[in-house]
Amino acid sequence: MTTVLERVCAYVLKRTTPNREERLRIITLAKNLKQKVEAAIMEAGIEAEIGVEGSVAKDTWLRNEPEIDIFMRVPNTVPRKAFGTVYLKTAKKATYGLKQIERFAEHPYLECMINNVRVNIVPCYTVEQGEWISAMDRTPFHTSYITKHLDQPSKNEVRILKQFMRGIDAYGAEIKVGGFSGYLCELLILYYKSFIETIKLAANWKRGVVIDFEGYYNGVKEELKKIFKNHIIVVDPVDKGRNVAAAVREKKLNEFIAASRAFLKNPDLKFFYAQEEKALDAEKLLYTMKARKSTLVFVMFGRVKTVSDVLWGQLFKSQRSLRKMLQKYSFKLIRDEVWSDEKNINMFIFEVGDRFLPSIKKHSGPPIEKREDCEKFLQKYLGAELTISGPRIEGNRWIVEKKREYTDVVTFITENLKGGGRHIGIANLLAKAITDYFEILVNEEILQIYSANDEFAKFLTKYLNGRLGWLV
Ligand code: UTP
Ligand code: MN
Repeated sequence: MTTVLERVCAYVLKRTTPNREERLRIITLAKNLKQKVEAAIMEAGIEAEIGVEGSVAKDTWLRNEPEIDIFMRVPNTVPRKAFGTVYLKTAKKATYGLKQIERFAEHPYLECMINNVRVNIVPCYTVEQGEWISAMDRTPFHTSYITKHLDQPSKNEVRILKQFMRGIDAYGAEIKVGGFSGYLCELLILYYKSFIETIKLAANWKRGVVIDFEGYYNGVKEELKKIFKNHIIVVDPVDKGRNVAAAVREKKLNEFIAASRAFLKNPDLKFFYAQEEKALDAEKLLYTMKARKSTLVFVMFGRVKTVSDVLWGQLFKSQRSLRKMLQKYSFKLIRDEVWSDEKNINMFIFEVGDRFLPSIKKHSGPPIEKREDCEKFLQKYLGAELTISGPRIEGNRWIVEKKREYTDVVTFITENLKGGGRHIGIANLLAKAITDYFEILVNEEILQIYSANDEFAKFLTKYLNGRLGWLV
């Protein structure tokens, strides 16, 4: 008899594994592209070894998300600058006629689309293991390591795990997600042997999980925690100096742990395939926002010209600064979020208990036994313009009630964002965009944007719901 769990896994495996035709289609496509890039390299008279890397080479790609990674391994005598010039140009030539997007991670690469399949053409250096020059130089070593160690049944397990990560929105090392990369999923399966073992063990992960299966830090495990300050450490088998899980944010790690527990209790497809939540209609939205009796402040600004990772890095950093500032000025922050379509609209959302604080603010002075401090306190506040009541004594301290500098959260944010807000910690590129334009909308004032933008509408609906998708 098969259990529910086995049936769920079998179903997911079937849906995520490409069938023979699909596999052939992708592999043929990859081979052809490799040849095209090789030919273009020849024609340009430059040097590079071309290889298929990533999940296609490792046979771990998800049927619905095929993506071909072609790497150009360049001799280390070539200057880095050439990656973005002659090599990028050659990649473009090789894929002439396809839709092309220039991208940038640590260095430039080319993305194109062919028959609905995403293709990345990425330059890196040919190096000896450990003598990394560019960030992508490890990739061919990852590919060999995985192809050498991951057997056929384990590839199935990888596919199930990747789909689980997708379903709970924890797949991907990009900054926007802060989750688990494909390579990390592969290593977890190598370590724990199967999807279900991974889930069972993850359900018990404690703070500071360490996985080091090449045993680089045997006997000196404590050192690891000094080198890597992350919540989960998975030492890269091809590079003991790198934590493969460095991109995993605490929240995503814990969402994975929580989802693992829930899945064990109730193995269900919803963990693998999140239901698309429909946006509330306008009337419901207004009703739901009103019922919270809070104030939702939407800080909107325009296009920031940069790549996704930089944009999200700057959005998160600026969000943290704004959050700290609001808290420092006593606004009761309930939740804050960032939203971006990565094109024309960027947005911070702050939900506060009350938009307005009282004009009066209680301020404690020194205890009575500190005679000199008391004297200074009196000098400062007695008859001062900002003093509303006092000074007086309460218990053993001097107290005044003084005027609050900012009482309206909207004015407060507006004042601080004028000129871009660099002084309060808004990151550079955002500050530039904010200098040009920003707008603050409060509660129902968001309706127009909400109605015009379905992605944002879904996002705000999710925000108001606030519940993790798999908890339904
Ligand atoms: P991908 O993100 O495309 O991963 O990076 P993948 O293994 O092909 O999985 P899919 O495409 O999501 O199914 C390709 C390779 O680049 C390296 C890894 O070696 C990875 O296999 N890489 C990528 C990193 O080392 N770190 C990263 O953050 C991203
Ligand atoms: Mn890939």
